[in-house]
Amino acid sequence: MEQELQQLEKRAKETLATLQDNSQLEDFRIEYLGRKGKFSTIMRNLGNVAKEDRPRVGQLANTIKQEIESLFEEKKLNLDQTGAKGETGDIDLTLPGRRPALGRLHPVTQIMNEVCQVFENMGFAIAEGPDVETDHYNFAALNIPEHHPARDMHDTFYISESILLRTHTSNMQARIMEKQDPPLRVIAPGKVYRCDSDITHTPMFHQVEGFLVDKKVSFADLKGVLTVFTQKVFEEDLALRFRPSFFPFTEPSAEVDIACVICKGEGCRVCKYTGWLEILGCGMIDPEVFKMVGYDPEEYSGFAFGLGVERIAMLKYGIDDIRLYYENDLRFLSQF
Ligand code: DAH
Repeated sequence: MEQELQQLEKRAKETLATLQDNSQLEDFRIEYLGRKGKFSTIMRNLGNVAKEDRPRVGQLANTIKQEIESLFEEKKLNLDQTGAKGETGDIDLTLPGRRPALGRLHPVTQIMNEVCQVFENMGFAIAEGPDVETDHYNFAALNIPEHHPARDMHDTFYISESILLRTHTSNMQARIMEKQDPPLRVIAPGKVYRCDSDITHTPMFHQVEGFLVDKKVSFADLKGVLTVFTQKVFEEDLALRFRPSFFPFTEPSAEVDIACVICKGEGCRVCKYTGWLEILGCGMIDPEVFKMVGYDPEEYSGFAFGLGVERIAMLKYGIDDIRLYYENDLRFLSQF
């Protein structure tokens, strides 16, 4: 009997090792472990064993059966995990897993956040306003009355005669100054819209407007703030150039250039061999703008600036076509 048991153990183990799928597994269970299976049969014959040997043989039979049962469970688990179910099987568990692709912020959002952070660190508050705007806040309150030639430059999308998609974030100047008295230190990030599309223009893009109003604010303050800004965003000590310009809502006005980030001022294709790249418009807020919001221009002065976020990112990363931002090609986006 003991011998029989040992043979049974050996055969059961050998058979177990050859099992390939669930149906073979089930056959094994019935043949060995079932109610009419080989182990049960032996147990039933235990009565034939000499009385004094019975406890020992019984115990041996139990131990072997338990061992085979646990090997059987282990095998079953293994087959389930490897999915070895004939044709669909063959999954190699030793291969590294596939990592789900992580999303990340759009490059424009990244630069927008960075720009805002730099100004926040200089004490500017952030204000957001509507994309659908009135003619008044987008133009009239900025000293651009009806029929003013400056309107032509804006390629405005009109919704009705007096409602439009804002063409710049400068619309926030009068909105905020109307509600708050100086001192003011505000930036207004957001989307703006112009009917224009080519490699440097998209119909929707992002701007950050900034303005500061207080007593005795001078052009030197403007220069200081913008110098810190360019150094922080471009992470190097780039030369700045203030070029006289014109905006109806600032006087004097300037456009600011940085030394070309590519050639450092030597002259190259990106800077059209001038050595300079234009990055923003700015100036001292025009007394007419102050008068319209009820500030006394004799008491207060201030500066304002407006910059294009896509453009800053293009210069920083050497991107030569603005449309890449909005084509959602992952080969482009995943580089940031
Ligand atoms: N709003 C101007 C534009 O979109 C940019 C600008 C220029 C804003 C000069 C300003 C400024 O605040 O002072 O082209």
